[in-house]
Amino acid sequence: MAIQVHISLAGAKHMRISWVTSDKHSPSVVDYGTSPNNYSSTSEGEYTSYRYFMYTSGKIHHTVIGPLEDDTLYFYRCGREGPEFQLKTPPSQFPVTFAVAGDLGQTEWTKSTLDHIDQCKYDIHLLPGDLSYADYLQHKWDTFGELVQPLASARPWMVTQGNHEKENIPFLEDSFVSYNSRWKMPYEESQSDSNLYYSFDVAGVHAIMLGSYTDYDKYSDQYRWLKADLPKVDRERTPWIIVLFHVPWYNSNEAHQGEGDDMMAAMEPLLHAAGVDVMFAGHVHAYERSKRVFNGRSDPCGAVHITIGDGGNSEGLAHK
Ligand SMILES: [Fe+2]
Repeated sequence: MAIQVHISLAGAKHMRISWVTSDKHSPSVVDYGTSPNNYSSTSEGEYTSYRYFMYTSGKIHHTVIGPLEDDTLYFYRCGREGPEFQLKTPPSQFPVTFAVAGDLGQTEWTKSTLDHIDQCKYDIHLLPGDLSYADYLQHKWDTFGELVQPLASARPWMVTQGNHEKENIPFLEDSFVSYNSRWKMPYEESQSDSNLYYSFDVAGVHAIMLGSYTDYDKYSDQYRWLKADLPKVDRERTPWIIVLFHVPWYNSNEAHQGEGDDMMAAMEPLLHAAGVDVMFAGHVHAYERSKRVFNGRSDPCGAVHITIGDGGNSEGLAHK
């Protein structure tokens, strides 16, 4: 039976459905339609799995469905068995509502955050890194998947990586093995060659998800991709540009002070020249919002920076 179901945008009018089964023979098939228990369409996708020391993951399925109508309720079932799920596609134009919360973890506080989000009529969840706080204990990725399923199976969750996704052990385990296996994002759809950075368009917004934990200097693949992505933005069609990454660039908190400086030096000029409106970060377990800023100063053409890393994880809040 399908567990840990979550969905994400996968190019125009398409959605990726991701889920896990313990049955290795379960098909990567999604049946879906606009009325309950009556599926007019079927898509078959791909699957993967991974090992991490003694842990072997279940079969992780990723199946893209569509083309889908905008702002429409769909009913779907994964792998030809188990319960039916519902999702709503985002609207094609304003107004659109984003829920933004990073550094979630899986505590009672996380549940409280998710309950608050659930009470909002939001279209898309944006997560600027630090999801499960599994911290090498792989079964905690499974419990996180179950915790977020009620929300993440109903609205697209668009995520980028934080330090807690890395989980590398020199000479033994690569970085981001679990994260990349489980939380596949539309990087191929946005001409990126890495799941660690990508972009997507939704309802008048071009959203760019950057990676704080992969190379970002001028000669890096990420920088090159970003430089190629920005000129493609059509401000008539998507007048807003928003950017998410994990480590904040404008941070007055004592926690993680200065950690974003190198990435900011490398990438802020490019994003400023493109007229980015808002940048969201996590990492610091607090809320902070800047004026419009650029190059460390107030600037009427700069972006507003918002840190929203108080999602509820077990490490607690950054008070200073
Ligand atoms: Fe973090």
